[in-house]
Amino acid sequence: MRIAINTGGGDAPGLNAVIRAASLSALNLGWEVVGIRRGYQGLFEEDGLVPLTRGSVRGITHTGGTILGTTNRGNPLQWPVEGPDGSIRLVDRSEEVVSEFKRRGLDALIAIGGDGSLRIASKLSEKGLPVVGVPKTIDNDLAATQVTFGFHTAVETATDAISKLHSTAEAHSRVMIVEVMGRGTGWIALYAGLAGTADVILIPEIPYRLDSVCERIDDRYEGDVGFAIVVAAEGAFPEGGDPVLAEKRATGKTERFGGIADQLANEIGERTGRETRSLALRHLQRGGQPNAYDRLLALQFGSAAINLVQDGHFGCMVALDPPNVLAVPLAEAVAEIRQVPLDGDVVRTARSLGISFGD
Ligand code: F6P
Repeated sequence: MRIAINTGGGDAPGLNAVIRAASLSALNLGWEVVGIRRGYQGLFEEDGLVPLTRGSVRGITHTGGTILGTTNRGNPLQWPVEGPDGSIRLVDRSEEVVSEFKRRGLDALIAIGGDGSLRIASKLSEKGLPVVGVPKTIDNDLAATQVTFGFHTAVETATDAISKLHSTAEAHSRVMIVEVMGRGTGWIALYAGLAGTADVILIPEIPYRLDSVCERIDDRYEGDVGFAIVVAAEGAFPEGGDPVLAEKRATGKTERFGGIADQLANEIGERTGRETRSLALRHLQRGGQPNAYDRLLALQFGSAAINLVQDGHFGCMVALDPPNVLAVPLAEAVAEIRQVPLDGDVVRTARSLGISFGD
């Protein structure tokens, strides 16, 4: 067997641990393993495949990023090609991916990615590519797995930042607005906001009212507290409004969220008359070492993916259904995004502690 591994979409802490676990599990079966550089791009480049050996995957379990590189601009189903006039046209190169894969003597692909990359893997599987998916994303928004690796590390980074903001917020009697990632879901905001003791948590699942947010902030200034912390998911939006986008959708690009913290700081500052500051944690949440939980999950996923290849079980994704790692069909795995359940225990706990969701 000669298998390939690639990483697609935004990076997440734990990618290298999956690469190591899958590589070692395959090498221990006597198989050959190669990595495809930058998602599927490496397939179209002469030097785009790298051998994954015991030596090249040594000492990477604890490292962030991905030794293979990644891209969220490399969808083979919508490959951007620049015309002579500079305009961008999207071309379907999926048949080429499948034939190049065979030409290079590859028998199976372990595709590590989030919803976008797994959707691509699902389409390629329909076209005959033997693929097993591994779910990753700090957003934790894949419905078929209870959790994705990278999420808990991102929550830790955000919680640490929110905790540190308390002292400066209190010293200056300020309102601090912290923007965290998550695309259309509020998992990071909810978990980090609760663990970091925010006063207000804004998530896309609960459209907010500015009046209600400001009321909660004013409450905090009554008595002797005199400061407030608001955690806003980048995809949160007001009732009847839209999320704030950093970049409008352009050909071949997905929309990019960003800017809600700045916008809220202006609105809240104006409405309450309080001194307000904003910060967006952005890619800090994707960087650094994976924590122990994410390392373990990533190692389990990598090893489970090889078991599936060994069983000839393709077109599926590994998923955590505690305490087991199972296989779910790729098509099912990417059918829906997992949003925060409003009747879930974490939302209930936050509400019972008096945290406002701005509703
Ligand atoms: O999906 C992971 C994620 O970090 C999202 O939380 C965020 O909206 C997006 O990727 C940012 O993408 P980029 O790295 O292209 O700015």
